[in-house]
Amino acid sequence: MPSPDPTPSAEPWALEATDLRKTFATGRAGLRRTKVSAVDGVSLRLRAGESLGIVGESGCGKSTLARMLVGLESPDSGNIQIAGRPIGDNRRELSRHVQMVFQDPYTSLDPRMTVQELISEPLTVHRIGTAAERRDRVAELLRLVGLSPEMMARYPHQFSGGQRQRIGIARALALEPRVLICDEPVSALDVSVQAQVVNLLRDLQRRMGIALVFIAHDLSVVRHIADRTAVMYLGRLAETGDTADVFDSPAHPYTQALLSASPVVDPTRRRRLADRIVLAGDPPNPTNPPSGCRFHTRCHIAVAECATTQPQMLSVGGGWAAACHLAQREPADSSTS
Ligand SMILES: Nc1ncnc2c1ncn2[C@@H]1O[C@H](COP(=O)(O)OP(=O)(O)OP(=O)(O)O)[C@@H](O)[C@H]1O
Ligand code: SF4
Ligand SMILES: [Mg+2]
Repeated sequence: MPSPDPTPSAEPWALEATDLRKTFATGRAGLRRTKVSAVDGVSLRLRAGESLGIVGESGCGKSTLARMLVGLESPDSGNIQIAGRPIGDNRRELSRHVQMVFQDPYTSLDPRMTVQELISEPLTVHRIGTAAERRDRVAELLRLVGLSPEMMARYPHQFSGGQRQRIGIARALALEPRVLICDEPVSALDVSVQAQVVNLLRDLQRRMGIALVFIAHDLSVVRHIADRTAVMYLGRLAETGDTADVFDSPAHPYTQALLSASPVVDPTRRRRLADRIVLAGDPPNPTNPPSGCRFHTRCHIAVAECATTQPQMLSVGGGWAAACHLAQREPADSSTS
């Protein structure tokens, strides 16, 4: 069930994903295959001009979710709507409206293509404009991301990591997508340029009214950029809500545990959280996830029901919800969606 809508509006959601699931088969074909439940029933939605941060430990399914949202991976089940229209199997339609900025600008840009070719490729694929119009558009996009149009004849290796990521952003914006998915867009960059690229993304997103999904390990970056935050644990959503609510008074024990170890929370509050919960060990193996609430093996307040019954998203106020049996028992209202 998607989290409740904090700001009901007549406008359709820019992006609405419902009950997405993805399982991977692992192990060599012919031998005993095991299945990894990478994403298991994730729903999310966001409006034009809104940013949603996605956080969670390594392997919790953030990239798999991102890849489904942008059409690089087909969900086993669930559906995606863009501006109120179902996408179904129409990957071409999806790529027109949803674009991705990848983690590593060193491997995501084809080294044999010039910057002009890289940025204009999506326009060529979708047969938009004449060659001259596409060239003008590339110049405009380069200016937009803070690079000089004179650089369009150069190749990716002639740029720094930060500049390459700006090229990746220009390419992603070429089709004027409604939704931009950024999967760890600055984690491969020097710390000294990370803030510039994050601020560029935030400015562009606000100026162009794009719906932004921003995945990051670094909680301080998510706090800085995201209007709303979704916390994932082992393929499921643990909590979603306004970033200030989720960071200042986390409702789900897992979010509390994540934040108790993060410098993004002020030391007094962090000590209070750490008194209550310490996140011990690694997440369980996703080939054999725990029954019931997937967090029950690490949760300090688990009750018997947690091992047998999967918790639904329960509203803890406004557009804020947590998947925990012990969260405030008020069914999340999906009637506003
Ligand atoms: N193509 C694949 N084949 C098999 N298993 C996969 C594949 N892609 C992802 N997985 C598995 O799915 C689970 C989720 O992976 P995913 O990359 O989505 O996590 P993540 O949250 O992005 O992690 P990280 O923070 O390390 O980037 C992991 O257990 C991973 O090993
Ligand atoms: S449902 Fe149970 S195990 Fe899961 S987070 Fe809540 S209390 Fe902990
Ligand atoms: Mg990832």
